[in-house]
Amino acid sequence: MPATPAAADTTETTETAAGAAPAGGPAVPAVPADPAVPVFSVRGLWKVFGPGADKIPGSAHANLSARELRERTGCTAAVRDVSFDVHRGEVFVVMGLSGSGKSTLVRCLTRLIEPTGGTLTMDGEDVLAMDRAHLRDLRRHRASMVFQHFGLLPHRTVLDNIAYGLEIQGVGRAERRARAAAMVEKVGLTGMEHRRPGQLSGGQQQRVGLARALAVDPEVLLFDEPFSALDPLIRRDMQEEVIRLHREEGRTMVFITHDLNEALRLGDRIALMRDGRIVQLGTPEEIVSSPADDYVRDFVRDVPREQVVTVRNAMRSAEDGEGRSGETVAPDTTVAEAVGTVARSGAPVRVMEDGRCLGVVDAGCLLAAIAGEKAVAAR
Ligand SMILES: Nc1ncnc2c1ncn2[C@@H]1O[C@H](COP(=O)(O)OP(=O)(O)O)[C@@H](O)[C@H]1O
Ligand SMILES: [Mg+2]
Repeated sequence: MPATPAAADTTETTETAAGAAPAGGPAVPAVPADPAVPVFSVRGLWKVFGPGADKIPGSAHANLSARELRERTGCTAAVRDVSFDVHRGEVFVVMGLSGSGKSTLVRCLTRLIEPTGGTLTMDGEDVLAMDRAHLRDLRRHRASMVFQHFGLLPHRTVLDNIAYGLEIQGVGRAERRARAAAMVEKVGLTGMEHRRPGQLSGGQQQRVGLARALAVDPEVLLFDEPFSALDPLIRRDMQEEVIRLHREEGRTMVFITHDLNEALRLGDRIALMRDGRIVQLGTPEEIVSSPADDYVRDFVRDVPREQVVTVRNAMRSAEDGEGRSGETVAPDTTVAEAVGTVARSGAPVRVMEDGRCLGVVDAGCLLAAIAGEKAVAAR
């Protein structure tokens, strides 16, 4: 495994859930979301810090290593020529070690950090062309952020912290309290409404952060390493909370983490960053079973494959009537889940999709998958 990342930056404590904009102003009604249009579409995005930053993208300096660039120009390219789409309803994870550019990238999405180059749309709208009012609306209504250090207001109660985003939206007191109360229940903080953040554990504080982000009913939740400061067990609880919320609401999420296990557990797709670039973008299974380069291979070396690889990629073709009878599993069953079925059945188990047998898995297939070998006979 690569070296343990250092503690992440702490800049988020100065920010608020919905940006630091003042109160007031009517909400611009949200555009009805077209499921076919990506929530975010990012192309060739750059963020360079330092003198003459604007001149770096597209120049001869653009391909220098991080160190050379810094030595020759004094600039840091935190995000380099990054392209991806975030699809509606998915959990899109950005993973990488500390300093790889994750926070910069997620802040560029709502222009909390101004990109140096490239294009960026949300629901098909050009984010880089938005004026201040439009951007404020985007941050207040459409994308809410959950930070690592919670960013709660210390003198306010849990309920008022959760209601804060609604308050700056200009929602009336009665309504925002009612909506905040509903969120209290949703994230399991019932009974703590009147406490202040200092009277809560870290996990509870992050539940408040999550509830505050959810209260504005955003189209997309942006998480910047929200659970990194939590103890492992609490962290696990919070991950399950996110999975549950996602399953129940299908809300689009962009989730930043330096923790591979967290990325694998939460991500529908993972973008793996190194030195400001995306080195691989794919499903957890694709990343674990087909690493793009040695760096990624090294990163995923210790991942228990049986928990990530599915039988779709472990099966072989059915022979001599094997496809006609016997136990069945769905193609998205993990190898770990299929082991029991195969052991009990004593015969090859059919991988079925829409009444069709795609192939079969037997003990040999499952072992090969665990060993990291492709099922050569399949497909
Ligand atoms: N405001 C800034 N000015 C100069 N360099 C910065 C600034 N913010 C971040 N960086 C640099 O950009 C790189 C990426 O940082 P960051 O996005 O915070 O990474 P991560 O979130 O993956 O830890 C780092 O080298 C960091 O030092
Ligand atoms: Mg960071």
